[in-house]
Amino acid sequence: MISTPEYVQAIQPYVPGKPTEELERELGIKNSIKLASNENPLGPSPAALSAIRNSFSDLNRYPDGSGFYLKQALSGMLDASEEELVLGNGSNQLLNIAVSTFMQDGDEAVMATPSFVVYSMAVQSVGGRSIQVPLKNYTHDLSVMADAITPRTKMIFIANPNNPTGTINKKDEFDKMMEKIPDNILVIADEAYYEYVSDPDYADSMKYLRSEKNILILRTFSKIYGLAGLRLGYGIAKKEIISEMNKLREPFNTNSIAQKAGLAALKDKEHVNRSINANNGGKKFLYFQLDSLGIKYVPTEANFIYILVEDSTSVYESLLRMGVIIRPMGPKAIRVTIGLPEENRRFIDSLRKIH
Ligand SMILES: Cc1ncc(COP(=O)(O)O)c(C=O)c1O
Repeated sequence: MISTPEYVQAIQPYVPGKPTEELERELGIKNSIKLASNENPLGPSPAALSAIRNSFSDLNRYPDGSGFYLKQALSGMLDASEEELVLGNGSNQLLNIAVSTFMQDGDEAVMATPSFVVYSMAVQSVGGRSIQVPLKNYTHDLSVMADAITPRTKMIFIANPNNPTGTINKKDEFDKMMEKIPDNILVIADEAYYEYVSDPDYADSMKYLRSEKNILILRTFSKIYGLAGLRLGYGIAKKEIISEMNKLREPFNTNSIAQKAGLAALKDKEHVNRSINANNGGKKFLYFQLDSLGIKYVPTEANFIYILVEDSTSVYESLLRMGVIIRPMGPKAIRVTIGLPEENRRFIDSLRKIH
């Protein structure tokens, strides 16, 4: 019998949700709505769709392994050179590459709980140990996280905004934490929902790019850019960090359609603004309705809301039977993606029936 290392045996595999069509068939429902994965309900930018259509004839060719044009455009948009950028098959892949590059068996990584589940899975995949620091007021407790660093710590993960709570860490606390982080530790600032944030006090991770600190900033095309299905994300870090990660990155890790769509999406500022406005409108509606129902929630800086309930499993199952797919998060909360106006209305109407 083939054997795996103990740390692989200990991994709890990610259980993917069923395809919507299959769920509908099983439950005998139609026209269900998916508010479970924080996707952009407006879809991809029309410019990205057109770039996708124009990319089909080149599919016999391997993609550009350097992602030249996309990195050039990102470099023009950010205060970062092309050598300070890395593309990933989703930012999820970049999390895994960073962990494999900088951690080994027995090392530790500090992260918040609850936060994005992939961090601990990535750390476990190399035999590392996750040190989980509980959120305070639904937010990363950065000073306690910095204090959790030991001589074995290699990495600290900060989801900003946090998934599932939608909260952010602000400049002051972030800067205070950075002061405490030793220079041999990699800070991963996971900013998957960066574009949705409106608080002017939102932490500025980019200012550490060329400091003596080590930071990897991760962003994605899966959320505001509406391209989750194509799998495309990017990382920003000093070139010494990027060149180490490139050693473990597969040469063709992002596909040619994703690169072209990403480039077009990046330039379509109008679609980004439309998506931000739609999200803000949906947020306002949901806050008002939840307030009127007397249901507590955590104010969000992202495109989803963490809602407090008595029994998340029963709320999840009841909503599912009404064709509204959301995510239970622990025993007493659900996470709901802000959808289109009619989706938000249907979610509230369904919630009202079981409240
Ligand atoms: C906090 C956070 N980071 C990273 C990701 C991964 O995004 P991607 O689709 O780029 O892999 C997600 C996706 O839900 C997320 O919520």
